[in-house]
Formats: sequence, C-alpha cells, structure tokens
Amino acid sequence: MKVKTGKVLAGAVAVSLLILLLILWLCFGFTKAFFIFAGIDSAAILAIFIWAMFKYSSLDRRLSMARRTALDGEELRLQYSILRKVAGLPTLFRYEQLEAATDGFRAVLGKGSSASVFKGILDDGTAVAVKRIDGQEHGEEEFRAEVTALASVQHLNLVRLLGYCLVPRGPRFLVYEFIENGSLDSWIFSGDSGRSTSAAQRLLPWEQRCAVALDVARALAYLHHDCRSRVLHLDVKPENILLDEVFRACVADFGLSKLMSRDESRVVTTVRGTRGYLAPEWLLESGVSEKSDVYSYGMVLLEIVGGRRNVRLVGDGPASQRKWSYFPRIVAEKVRQGREMEVVDERLPAGEVEENQVKAMLYVALWCIQEKPTLRPTMARVVDMLSGRAPVEAPPETEMVVVDLLAIDHDDAGDSAAAPPHAGQNRPMSAYFASLSTLSPR
Ligand SMILES: Nc1ncnc2c1ncn2[C@@H]1O[C@H](COP(=O)(O)OP(=O)(O)OP(=O)(O)O)[C@@H](O)[C@H]1O
Ligand SMILES: [Mg+2]
Repeated sequence: MKVKTGKVLAGAVAVSLLILLLILWLCFGFTKAFFIFAGIDSAAILAIFIWAMFKYSSLDRRLSMARRTALDGEELRLQYSILRKVAGLPTLFRYEQLEAATDGFRAVLGKGSSASVFKGILDDGTAVAVKRIDGQEHGEEEFRAEVTALASVQHLNLVRLLGYCLVPRGPRFLVYEFIENGSLDSWIFSGDSGRSTSAAQRLLPWEQRCAVALDVARALAYLHHDCRSRVLHLDVKPENILLDEVFRACVADFGLSKLMSRDESRVVTTVRGTRGYLAPEWLLESGVSEKSDVYSYGMVLLEIVGGRRNVRLVGDGPASQRKWSYFPRIVAEKVRQGREMEVVDERLPAGEVEENQVKAMLYVALWCIQEKPTLRPTMARVVDMLSGRAPVEAPPETEMVVVDLLAIDHDDAGDSAAAPPHAGQNRPMSAYFASLSTLSPR
C-alpha cells in the first residue's frame, strides 16, 4: 500500500469512529450502553493511531536511510570518477555524450583502414578525438587491443585514452585527448602524403625531427621494457605518430598491438601492420617480438631524415614502366660512401642540419632494420644512442632482399605515386605470399 493511501485510509477510519461515537451519544445519551460502545470505539481509534505512528516512523527511518545510502553512493561514484581521472583510467561514455561532443560526428580528423576519427569537445571543455571503429569482427578485436594496451600505460609520449563507448550491435568508440598538430606524415612528406594542400606545405624543422625521433624511441622503450607485460605496438608508422602543440610526439593507434608476457620471447600472430614497415620475420611463421617494432621504427627514422617514403615509384610514363625507388638501399649505399648528407630531406635549409646528428640517426636506423632481429638494438639502446649516452657504431651491411619485397605490393604498380604503399591494408599472410610470387626478382 502506498504511504499516502495508507495515511488517508487510517484517517478516514478514525474520523468514521468519531462520527460513530457522536451518533451513539445522540441515540443513547450518557447511558451504560453508550459508555461500553464509546470504550470500544475509543480503543479502536487509539489502536489506529498507535499503528500509524509505528508504521510511518519506521517507514520514515527506512526512507531516510535509503536517501543517505543514495547520497553515499553518489559520493562514492564521484570519488571513484575522480580517482579514475587521476589514475588516467578510461571512462565509459554514453553515445549521446559523444554525439553532442562531436556535433553529430562532423569534423573528420583522419580516416584509417577500419576507423574514422572525429574532433569533439566534451562538456567540461576538454578537446577530444573520437575514434569510431566500424566492422563487427575486426572492430571488436581492434577495440579490445587498443583498450587493453592503453588502459594501463602512462607515458608522456603515448596518446591518452580518456574513455570508450559501446553501442550494442553497433560501432565501438574510443575517446582520446586531442593532439593539436595531427600526424607526423603530414609534417615530413611533401605532396605524396595524400593529404590536403595545406598539410602538404608543412615542413618539420630538423631540430624537431631529432626530438620526435627521440620521443618515439622513448615511448617504444617504455612499452617494451617498463610495463608489467611487454606491449608490442606492431604498427609503427608516421600516420600513427601524433604531434602536440609543442611538437612533442605521441605514439597512437594501438589497434594492432599485442601483449607479451615477460618470459615470452616471441608471439605468433596473423600478419598485422603496414607494408613498408613490416619486419622480415612476419614472413616466417616463427612469430614476432619487440624487435619487429624496432624494425618499423628504423624505417620511420629513415623517412624522418629523408622526408620521403621509403618505397615510391619514380620516373615518368605509365606506372608499369616506372621503377620502384627503395630509400633504405640508397641510404645504405650513401653511408658506405660516407656521403650521408646527400640523403637528407632537400627541402630543409642546409645550415639547419647537423652532420653528426644525421650520421647518428642513419646509423641507428640501419641497425634497426637489420634483417636478423638479434642484430637489431633494443629500443632502450636506441634511446641511449640517440641521446648521446651510448656510442653509435657503423652498422653492418644488410642484404635487404626480403624487406623490399615485403614493402611493395604488385597492386601498387597500377596506382600513381601519389598513392604510396602505406594505405594501411593489413593483409593476411596468404595475400603477402601471393603478391611476392608475382614480383620479378631484383
Ligand atoms: N588523438 C588524436 N588527435 C588528433 N588526430 C588524431 C588523433 N587520433 C587519430 N588522429 C588522426 O586520425 C588518423 C587515424 O587514426 P588512427 O591511426 O587511430 O586510425 P586507424 O583506423 O587505426 O588507422 P590505420 O589503421 O590506418 O593505422 C591519424 O592518422 C590522425 O591523423
Ligand atoms: Mg593509424
């Protein structure tokens, strides 16, 4: 029975008993019969009052207890959300919150192979990048990989995951802090990045290139050596390196990442990553390790110095008549001849570039892209070499047979040079073998 109905009913019964008392007095006057009935009537009224008092005072107690519990719960929730924020743990967002923050998913920041990224502003004014992962099966896998890898790591040079949102049977969303200057590719490559013309005009100065190289190395060293489980990124490339307002680099996009326990030396997984940055061991079914990230890092380092894609079509005429130019091979040759400065991005002002830095960066890059993983340095060692704490020795010669085959896809020959083989198609292993068999040997 509802509280209000109960109170009304008890009041009505009490009033009826009082009226009955009046009627009895009118009928019998102050007779013996009247006093007997009046006694019973008064006892009934008293019983109703006592019952109502007990019932409603215990009800009031229960209600106030429930109110206090709710308040305590609210406070706990508040404290928990503050703790999550302080600890950097991701928050669960509602779809409506993200829709409002991005103004209906209007401003596209970037598009990858399986996701679109939109700019947004949260209620508290925080600028965010909202990544919408489409596609049920891969979407789920990518979402899990990204949350698992990023939820527990904290580093200045890793993008911060602020939260996530799950739409039942719909897309998954990841909410990141917004990184002001976008991805590295638009700052080091000229028109071939396939981005807008304004992006093509951006040119990262030499000093900042060195700083970015060190930032990325630090982030990877942290993931490989300083986390409870080793985190393999497995898709290190300029598109996945973001630059903030002071051009500090943040490694992003953990959609293909893998956790590896400290006592494992390799993990076996399906081919993941992007052509041009894939280490040769991807072709062997023996598995990959943190050294596969070292290889991709080496490839990125070469692109930072050269300001060009490692693999690109050169010459005029139809694509089928043009040749592939493989930058790591050119760099190895120039280094052998001691003409390192000739591979530096020619758009950079000559006086700006320091020869000893170029040499160190090229040497480190060539160490990183050794075909044998055991010859490659660890990322911690790379940090030491780039920051001058460890000597950088001349790298050994490397064959680069498998690597350039891995970098080129026959399909790209049909594309223009404006569409380099970096578009992020994560092809299954069988597709790689198929494309290798169609390539003529070098
Ligand atoms: N936090 C961010 N701030 C600013 N821009 C971002 C942010 N995150 C992503 N972007 C932009 O969106 C692009 C795509 O993001 P992301 O790499 O996470 O998607 P993806 O679909 O996994 O890409 P791919 O599979 O091709 O590597 C980035 O290259 C970058 O330009
Ligand atoms: Mg990406």
